[in-house]
Amino acid sequence: MKQFMIKPTIYQIATCEEFVHHFQLGENDLIITNEYIYEPSFGSMSLACHVVFQEKYGTGEPSDEMVEAIYRDIPKNYRRVIGIGGGGVLDVTKVLALKYISPVLALYDGKHEIIKDKELILVPTTCGTGSEVTNISILALSSRGTKKGLATDALFADSAVLIPELLNALPFRFFATSSIDALIHGVESTLSPKANQTTKLFGYKAIDMILRGFMEIRDHGPEARIPLLEQFLIASNYAGIAFGNAGCGAVHALSYPLGAVYHVPHGEANYAMFTGVMNKYLSIKSDGELACLNAFIADILQCDISCVYKELENLLNILIPKKTLREYGMTEADLHAFTDSVRDNQQRLMSNNFVPLSDEQVYGIYRTLY
Ligand SMILES: NC(=O)c1ccc[n+]([C@@H]2O[C@H](COP(=O)([O-])OP(=O)(O)OC[C@H]3O[C@@H](n4cnc5c(N)ncnc54)[C@H](O)[C@@H]3O)[C@@H](O)[C@H]2O)c1
Ligand SMILES: [Fe+2]
Repeated sequence: MKQFMIKPTIYQIATCEEFVHHFQLGENDLIITNEYIYEPSFGSMSLACHVVFQEKYGTGEPSDEMVEAIYRDIPKNYRRVIGIGGGGVLDVTKVLALKYISPVLALYDGKHEIIKDKELILVPTTCGTGSEVTNISILALSSRGTKKGLATDALFADSAVLIPELLNALPFRFFATSSIDALIHGVESTLSPKANQTTKLFGYKAIDMILRGFMEIRDHGPEARIPLLEQFLIASNYAGIAFGNAGCGAVHALSYPLGAVYHVPHGEANYAMFTGVMNKYLSIKSDGELACLNAFIADILQCDISCVYKELENLLNILIPKKTLREYGMTEADLHAFTDSVRDNQQRLMSNNFVPLSDEQVYGIYRTLY
Protein backbone atom coordinates (compact mmCIF):
# COMPACT_ATOMS: atom_id res chain seq x y z
CA MET A 1 0.00 0.00 0.00
CA LYS A 2 1.26 3.47 -0.87
CA GLN A 3 2.73 5.11 2.22
CA PHE A 4 4.13 8.48 1.34
CA MET A 5 4.99 10.88 -1.46
CA ILE A 6 6.55 14.33 -1.77
CA LYS A 7 6.24 15.32 -5.40
CA PRO A 8 7.69 18.85 -5.68
CA THR A 9 11.37 19.51 -5.25
CA ILE A 10 11.59 21.73 -2.17
CA TYR A 11 14.00 24.67 -2.21
CA GLN A 12 14.90 27.09 0.52
CA ILE A 13 16.36 30.31 -0.85
CA ALA A 14 17.50 33.31 1.18
CA THR A 15 16.47 36.17 -1.10
CA CYS A 16 14.10 36.99 -3.95
CA GLU A 17 17.07 37.97 -6.17
CA GLU A 18 18.57 34.50 -5.76
CA PHE A 19 15.21 32.95 -6.58
CA VAL A 20 14.89 34.96 -9.81
CA HIS A 21 18.44 34.11 -10.77
CA HIS A 22 18.14 30.41 -9.95
CA PHE A 23 14.94 29.93 -11.94
CA GLN A 24 15.95 32.36 -14.69
CA LEU A 25 12.52 34.03 -14.69
CA GLY A 26 11.74 35.58 -18.07
CA GLU A 27 9.23 36.35 -20.79
CA ASN A 28 7.70 32.88 -21.07
CA ASP A 29 6.67 32.95 -17.44
CA LEU A 30 3.32 33.92 -15.95
CA ILE A 31 3.36 35.12 -12.34
CA ILE A 32 0.21 35.15 -10.20
CA THR A 33 0.65 37.28 -7.08
CA ASN A 34 -0.54 40.38 -5.21
CA GLU A 35 0.77 43.84 -6.02
CA TYR A 36 1.66 44.58 -2.36
CA ILE A 37 3.76 41.41 -2.21
CA TYR A 38 5.33 41.71 -5.67
CA GLU A 39 6.25 45.41 -5.80
CA PRO A 40 8.48 45.64 -2.69
CA SER A 41 10.36 42.41 -3.44
CA PHE A 42 10.41 42.07 -7.24
CA GLY A 43 9.25 45.43 -8.62
CA SER A 44 12.70 46.96 -8.98
CA MET A 45 13.95 43.94 -10.98
CA SER A 46 11.75 44.83 -14.01
CA LEU A 47 11.16 41.19 -14.88
CA ALA A 48 9.97 40.38 -18.39
CA CYS A 49 7.31 37.96 -17.05
CA HIS A 50 3.57 38.53 -17.47
CA VAL A 51 2.38 39.46 -13.97
CA VAL A 52 -1.23 39.15 -12.76
CA PHE A 53 -2.36 40.71 -9.47
CA GLN A 54 -5.04 38.43 -8.07
CA GLU A 55 -6.71 41.15 -5.98
CA LYS A 56 -7.72 42.96 -9.20
CA TYR A 57 -10.20 40.11 -9.67
CA GLY A 58 -11.99 40.44 -6.33
CA THR A 59 -11.29 40.41 -2.64
CA GLY A 60 -11.49 37.52 -0.20
CA GLU A 61 -10.65 33.91 -0.83
CA PRO A 62 -10.54 32.72 -4.43
CA SER A 63 -13.61 31.49 -6.26
CA ASP A 64 -14.36 29.66 -9.51
CA GLU A 65 -15.52 32.98 -10.96
CA MET A 66 -12.19 34.60 -10.09
CA VAL A 67 -10.20 31.87 -11.85
CA GLU A 68 -12.52 32.10 -14.83
CA ALA A 69 -11.91 35.86 -15.13
CA ILE A 70 -8.13 35.57 -14.73
CA TYR A 71 -8.04 32.81 -17.33
CA ARG A 72 -9.94 34.99 -19.81
CA ASP A 73 -7.35 37.76 -19.44
CA ILE A 74 -4.01 35.96 -19.52
CA PRO A 75 -1.93 35.20 -22.62
CA LYS A 76 -2.18 31.45 -23.25
CA ASN A 77 1.37 30.80 -24.45
CA TYR A 78 3.22 30.79 -21.13
CA ARG A 79 5.64 27.93 -20.43
CA ARG A 80 5.76 28.14 -16.64
CA VAL A 81 3.29 29.49 -14.12
CA ILE A 82 4.60 30.84 -10.82
CA GLY A 83 2.45 31.59 -7.78
CA ILE A 84 3.87 33.97 -5.18
CA GLY A 85 1.41 34.55 -2.34
CA GLY A 86 -0.80 33.10 0.35
CA GLY A 87 -2.76 29.89 -0.01
CA GLY A 88 -5.40 31.69 -2.04
CA VAL A 89 -2.96 32.80 -4.73
CA LEU A 90 -1.29 29.38 -4.81
CA ASP A 91 -4.62 27.58 -5.27
CA VAL A 92 -5.49 29.81 -8.23
CA THR A 93 -2.04 29.30 -9.75
CA LYS A 94 -2.32 25.52 -9.55
CA VAL A 95 -5.41 25.51 -11.76
CA LEU A 96 -3.65 27.67 -14.35
CA ALA A 97 -1.06 24.92 -14.87
CA LEU A 98 -3.75 22.63 -16.33
CA LYS A 99 -4.56 22.08 -19.98
CA TYR A 100 -8.36 22.38 -19.76
CA ILE A 101 -9.37 25.10 -17.33
CA SER A 102 -12.75 26.52 -18.27
CA PRO A 103 -15.53 26.04 -17.20
CA VAL A 104 -13.90 25.90 -13.79
CA LEU A 105 -17.07 24.63 -12.11
CA ALA A 106 -17.05 21.57 -14.37
CA LEU A 107 -13.40 21.01 -13.48
CA TYR A 108 -14.27 20.94 -9.77
CA ASP A 109 -17.18 18.61 -10.48
CA GLY A 110 -14.79 16.14 -12.09
CA LYS A 111 -16.34 16.61 -15.53
CA HIS A 112 -13.10 17.66 -17.29
CA GLU A 113 -10.12 15.64 -18.18
CA ILE A 114 -7.41 16.87 -15.80
CA ILE A 115 -4.05 17.16 -17.52
CA LYS A 116 -1.03 19.09 -16.32
CA ASP A 117 0.25 21.31 -19.12
CA LYS A 118 2.66 23.85 -17.63
CA GLU A 119 5.58 23.76 -15.27
CA LEU A 120 4.39 24.95 -11.85
CA ILE A 121 6.47 26.83 -9.26
CA LEU A 122 4.90 27.79 -5.93
CA VAL A 123 6.30 30.31 -3.45
CA PRO A 124 4.24 30.65 -0.22
CA THR A 125 4.16 34.03 1.54
CA THR A 126 2.10 32.88 4.52
CA CYS A 127 2.93 30.11 6.96
CA GLY A 128 -0.29 28.16 6.70
CA THR A 129 -1.66 26.15 3.87
CA GLY A 130 1.29 24.03 2.80
CA SER A 131 -0.35 24.32 -0.62
CA GLU A 132 3.11 24.39 -2.20
CA VAL A 133 3.46 20.66 -1.50
CA THR A 134 -0.12 19.40 -1.79
CA ASN A 135 -2.11 18.25 -4.80
CA ILE A 136 -5.18 20.21 -3.71
CA SER A 137 -6.70 23.46 -4.91
CA ILE A 138 -9.59 24.88 -2.93
CA LEU A 139 -12.05 27.38 -4.38
CA ALA A 140 -15.27 28.92 -3.17
CA LEU A 141 -17.96 27.79 -5.60
CA SER A 142 -19.93 31.00 -5.68
CA SER A 143 -23.12 29.48 -7.06
CA ARG A 144 -23.17 26.74 -4.39
CA GLY A 145 -22.36 28.65 -1.17
CA THR A 146 -19.54 26.32 -0.17
CA LYS A 147 -15.86 25.68 -0.77
CA LYS A 148 -14.62 22.62 -2.56
CA GLY A 149 -11.21 21.04 -2.92
CA LEU A 150 -10.02 19.50 -6.16
CA ALA A 151 -7.42 16.87 -5.31
CA THR A 152 -5.49 15.31 -8.17
CA ASP A 153 -1.81 14.65 -8.79
CA ALA A 154 -1.86 16.97 -11.82
CA LEU A 155 -1.99 19.84 -9.32
CA PHE A 156 1.35 19.07 -7.71
CA ALA A 157 3.96 21.77 -8.16
CA ASP A 158 7.27 20.92 -9.78
CA SER A 159 9.09 23.23 -7.39
CA ALA A 160 8.09 24.51 -3.94
CA VAL A 161 10.28 27.43 -2.96
CA LEU A 162 10.56 28.69 0.62
CA ILE A 163 11.85 32.28 0.86
CA PRO A 164 11.46 33.30 4.52
CA GLU A 165 12.13 37.01 3.86
CA LEU A 166 8.82 37.21 1.98
CA LEU A 167 7.00 36.72 5.29
CA ASN A 168 8.53 39.77 6.97
CA ALA A 169 5.67 41.99 5.76
CA LEU A 170 2.92 39.48 6.56
CA PRO A 171 0.50 41.32 8.91
CA PHE A 172 0.05 39.73 12.33
CA ARG A 173 -3.60 38.77 11.76
CA PHE A 174 -2.72 36.77 8.63
CA PHE A 175 0.27 35.26 10.37
CA ALA A 176 -2.16 34.20 13.11
CA THR A 177 -4.85 32.67 10.91
CA SER A 178 -2.40 30.91 8.61
CA SER A 179 -0.26 29.41 11.36
CA ILE A 180 -3.37 28.14 13.19
CA ASP A 181 -4.40 26.52 9.89
CA ALA A 182 -1.00 24.79 9.74
CA LEU A 183 -1.38 23.60 13.34
CA ILE A 184 -4.74 22.09 12.45
CA HIS A 185 -3.23 20.39 9.36
CA GLY A 186 -0.74 18.77 11.72
CA VAL A 187 -3.49 17.66 14.11
CA GLU A 188 -6.03 16.44 11.57
CA SER A 189 -3.51 14.52 9.47
CA THR A 190 -2.11 12.83 12.59
CA LEU A 191 -5.60 11.67 13.63
CA SER A 192 -6.52 10.51 10.12
CA PRO A 193 -6.94 6.78 9.54
CA LYS A 194 -4.59 7.30 6.56
CA ALA A 195 -1.76 8.48 8.86
CA ASN A 196 1.34 6.33 9.14
CA GLN A 197 4.72 6.59 10.86
CA THR A 198 6.11 8.87 8.17
CA THR A 199 3.19 11.31 7.95
CA LYS A 200 3.14 11.47 11.76
CA LEU A 201 6.83 12.35 11.79
CA PHE A 202 5.98 15.50 9.86
CA GLY A 203 2.66 16.12 11.64
CA TYR A 204 3.99 15.93 15.19
CA LYS A 205 7.08 17.98 14.32
CA ALA A 206 4.91 20.71 12.81
CA ILE A 207 2.64 20.79 15.89
CA ASP A 208 5.67 21.01 18.16
CA MET A 209 7.32 23.86 16.21
CA ILE A 210 4.10 25.87 15.91
CA LEU A 211 3.01 25.54 19.55
CA ARG A 212 6.47 26.45 20.85
CA GLY A 213 6.48 29.49 18.55
CA PHE A 214 3.04 30.52 19.85
CA MET A 215 4.31 30.24 23.42
CA GLU A 216 7.17 32.62 22.55
CA ILE A 217 4.61 35.09 21.22
CA ARG A 218 2.46 34.64 24.34
CA ASP A 219 5.47 35.36 26.56
CA HIS A 220 7.18 38.12 24.55
CA GLY A 221 4.51 39.72 22.35
CA PRO A 222 3.67 39.68 18.61
CA GLU A 223 7.08 40.95 17.48
CA ALA A 224 8.67 37.79 18.88
CA ARG A 225 7.37 36.04 15.74
CA ILE A 226 9.79 37.88 13.43
CA PRO A 227 12.93 35.81 14.17
CA LEU A 228 10.72 32.68 14.10
CA LEU A 229 9.15 33.22 10.67
CA GLU A 230 11.54 30.81 8.97
CA GLN A 231 10.59 28.13 11.53
CA PHE A 232 6.89 28.80 10.99
CA LEU A 233 7.33 28.57 7.20
CA ILE A 234 9.13 25.24 7.53
CA ALA A 235 6.51 23.98 10.01
CA SER A 236 3.67 24.84 7.61
CA ASN A 237 5.56 23.01 4.88
CA TYR A 238 5.87 19.93 7.14
CA ALA A 239 2.19 20.12 8.01
CA GLY A 240 1.43 20.33 4.26
CA ILE A 241 3.51 17.23 3.64
CA ALA A 242 1.64 15.45 6.46
CA PHE A 243 -1.88 16.31 5.33
CA GLY A 244 -1.00 16.02 1.65
CA ASN A 245 -0.51 12.32 2.39
CA ALA A 246 -2.91 11.60 5.25
CA GLY A 247 -5.63 14.18 4.63
CA CYS A 248 -7.55 16.63 6.78
CA GLY A 249 -10.93 15.89 8.37
CA ALA A 250 -13.97 17.29 10.13
CA VAL A 251 -12.46 20.57 11.31
CA HIS A 252 -11.86 21.59 7.71
CA ALA A 253 -15.12 20.04 6.50
CA LEU A 254 -17.27 21.91 9.04
CA SER A 255 -15.40 25.16 8.50
CA TYR A 256 -15.97 25.31 4.73
CA PRO A 257 -19.61 26.44 4.76
CA LEU A 258 -18.76 29.07 7.40
CA GLY A 259 -15.86 30.33 5.28
CA ALA A 260 -17.87 30.36 2.07
CA VAL A 261 -21.14 31.88 3.34
CA TYR A 262 -19.83 34.35 5.95
CA HIS A 263 -16.38 35.02 4.41
CA VAL A 264 -14.48 34.01 7.51
CA PRO A 265 -10.76 33.53 6.73
CA HIS A 266 -9.83 29.88 6.35
CA GLY A 267 -7.62 29.58 9.46
CA GLU A 268 -10.11 31.48 11.62
CA ALA A 269 -13.05 29.36 10.44
CA ASN A 270 -10.99 26.28 11.29
CA TYR A 271 -10.24 27.62 14.73
CA ALA A 272 -13.96 28.22 15.31
CA MET A 273 -14.55 24.46 14.78
CA PHE A 274 -11.32 23.08 16.22
CA THR A 275 -11.96 22.27 19.88
CA GLY A 276 -15.64 21.48 19.17
CA VAL A 277 -14.55 18.65 16.86
CA MET A 278 -11.79 17.51 19.23
CA ASN A 279 -14.18 17.35 22.19
CA LYS A 280 -16.66 15.36 20.09
CA TYR A 281 -13.95 12.86 19.12
CA LEU A 282 -12.90 12.58 22.76
CA SER A 283 -16.47 11.83 23.84
CA ILE A 284 -16.66 8.98 21.31
CA LYS A 285 -13.19 7.43 21.60
CA SER A 286 -10.59 8.63 24.07
CA ASP A 287 -7.78 6.17 23.37
CA GLY A 288 -5.56 5.44 20.33
CA GLU A 289 -3.89 8.31 18.46
CA LEU A 290 -6.06 10.92 20.17
CA ALA A 291 -4.65 9.94 23.56
CA CYS A 292 -1.07 10.13 22.16
CA LEU A 293 -1.75 13.52 20.61
CA ASN A 294 -3.35 14.96 23.76
CA ALA A 295 -0.39 13.77 25.86
CA PHE A 296 2.02 15.26 23.30
CA ILE A 297 0.29 18.67 23.37
CA ALA A 298 -0.13 18.65 27.18
CA ASP A 299 3.58 17.99 27.51
CA ILE A 300 4.43 21.02 25.34
CA LEU A 301 1.92 23.25 27.13
CA GLN A 302 3.00 21.90 30.52
CA CYS A 303 -0.57 21.22 31.58
CA ASP A 304 -2.68 18.31 32.73
CA ILE A 305 -4.14 16.17 29.92
CA SER A 306 -7.63 16.69 31.32
CA CYS A 307 -7.52 20.41 30.44
CA VAL A 308 -5.44 20.23 27.26
CA TYR A 309 -8.06 21.75 24.93
CA LYS A 310 -8.80 24.56 27.40
CA GLU A 311 -5.09 25.39 27.62
CA LEU A 312 -4.75 25.15 23.84
CA GLU A 313 -7.60 27.63 23.48
CA ASN A 314 -6.01 29.98 26.02
CA LEU A 315 -2.87 29.97 23.88
CA LEU A 316 -4.63 30.37 20.52
CA ASN A 317 -6.86 33.14 21.90
CA ILE A 318 -3.75 35.31 22.11
CA LEU A 319 -3.55 35.09 18.31
CA ILE A 320 -7.26 35.35 17.50
CA PRO A 321 -10.07 35.42 20.05
CA LYS A 322 -12.36 32.45 19.66
CA LYS A 323 -15.88 33.48 18.71
CA THR A 324 -19.19 31.66 18.77
CA LEU A 325 -20.69 30.76 15.39
CA ARG A 326 -23.51 33.19 16.08
CA GLU A 327 -20.95 36.03 16.22
CA TYR A 328 -19.96 35.23 12.63
CA GLY A 329 -23.58 35.66 11.58
CA MET A 330 -24.69 32.04 11.54
CA THR A 331 -28.38 31.46 12.19
CA GLU A 332 -30.40 28.57 13.62
CA ALA A 333 -31.38 27.62 10.07
CA ASP A 334 -27.71 27.44 9.11
CA LEU A 335 -27.11 24.72 11.70
CA HIS A 336 -29.19 22.33 9.59
CA ALA A 337 -28.14 23.76 6.23
CA PHE A 338 -24.43 23.51 7.06
CA THR A 339 -24.86 19.95 8.37
CA ASP A 340 -26.46 19.01 5.04
CA SER A 341 -23.72 20.82 3.13
CA VAL A 342 -21.02 18.88 4.97
CA ARG A 343 -22.79 15.60 4.16
CA ASP A 344 -23.29 16.51 0.50
CA ASN A 345 -20.00 18.26 -0.33
CA GLN A 346 -17.28 17.24 2.10
CA GLN A 347 -17.06 13.46 2.01
CA ARG A 348 -13.47 13.70 0.73
CA LEU A 349 -12.55 15.14 4.13
CA MET A 350 -15.10 13.38 6.35
CA SER A 351 -13.64 10.01 5.36
CA ASN A 352 -10.43 11.03 7.18
CA ASN A 353 -12.09 11.61 10.56
CA PHE A 354 -10.54 10.06 13.66
CA VAL A 355 -13.91 8.31 14.17
CA PRO A 356 -16.86 8.45 11.78
CA LEU A 357 -19.27 11.29 12.52
CA SER A 358 -22.99 11.01 11.75
CA ASP A 359 -25.13 13.94 10.59
CA GLU A 360 -26.52 14.17 14.14
CA GLN A 361 -23.02 14.41 15.56
CA VAL A 362 -22.02 17.09 13.04
CA TYR A 363 -25.17 19.01 13.94
CA GLY A 364 -24.29 18.55 17.62
CA ILE A 365 -20.85 20.11 17.07
CA TYR A 366 -22.32 23.13 15.29
CA ARG A 367 -24.97 23.45 18.03
CA THR A 368 -22.36 23.36 20.82
CA LEU A 369 -20.29 26.03 19.09
CA TYR A 370 -23.29 28.20 18.20
N1 LIG B 1 -4.39 23.85 -1.30
C1 LIG B 1 -4.29 23.52 -0.04
O1 LIG B 1 -3.71 22.50 0.28
C2 LIG B 1 -4.89 24.43 0.98
C3 LIG B 1 -4.82 24.08 2.33
C4 LIG B 1 -5.37 24.96 3.26
C5 LIG B 1 -5.98 26.14 2.85
N2 LIG B 1 -6.04 26.45 1.53
C6 LIG B 1 -6.65 27.70 1.05
O2 LIG B 1 -5.73 28.75 1.26
C7 LIG B 1 -6.43 29.96 1.55
C8 LIG B 1 -5.92 30.58 2.83
O3 LIG B 1 -4.56 30.82 2.67
P1 LIG B 1 -3.71 31.74 3.64
O4 LIG B 1 -4.05 31.42 5.06
O5 LIG B 1 -2.33 31.59 3.19
O6 LIG B 1 -4.29 33.19 3.41
P2 LIG B 1 -4.61 34.02 2.08
O7 LIG B 1 -3.96 33.48 0.89
O8 LIG B 1 -6.10 34.18 2.06
O9 LIG B 1 -3.93 35.39 2.47
C9 LIG B 1 -4.43 36.19 3.52
C10 LIG B 1 -4.13 37.64 3.24
O10 LIG B 1 -2.74 37.88 3.45
C11 LIG B 1 -2.18 38.57 2.34
N3 LIG B 1 -0.78 38.19 2.29
C12 LIG B 1 -0.29 36.95 2.04
N4 LIG B 1 1.05 36.95 2.14
C13 LIG B 1 1.42 38.21 2.46
C14 LIG B 1 2.68 38.83 2.72
N5 LIG B 1 3.80 38.13 2.72
N6 LIG B 1 2.69 40.14 2.98
C15 LIG B 1 1.54 40.85 3.05
N7 LIG B 1 0.31 40.30 2.84
C16 LIG B 1 0.25 39.01 2.55
C17 LIG B 1 -3.02 38.10 1.19
O11 LIG B 1 -2.94 38.93 0.09
C18 LIG B 1 -4.41 38.07 1.82
O12 LIG B 1 -4.97 39.35 1.83
C19 LIG B 1 -7.88 29.62 1.59
O13 LIG B 1 -8.46 29.98 0.36
C20 LIG B 1 -7.87 28.13 1.81
O14 LIG B 1 -9.04 27.53 1.31
C21 LIG B 1 -5.49 25.62 0.60
FE1 LIG C 1 -6.33 24.35 5.90
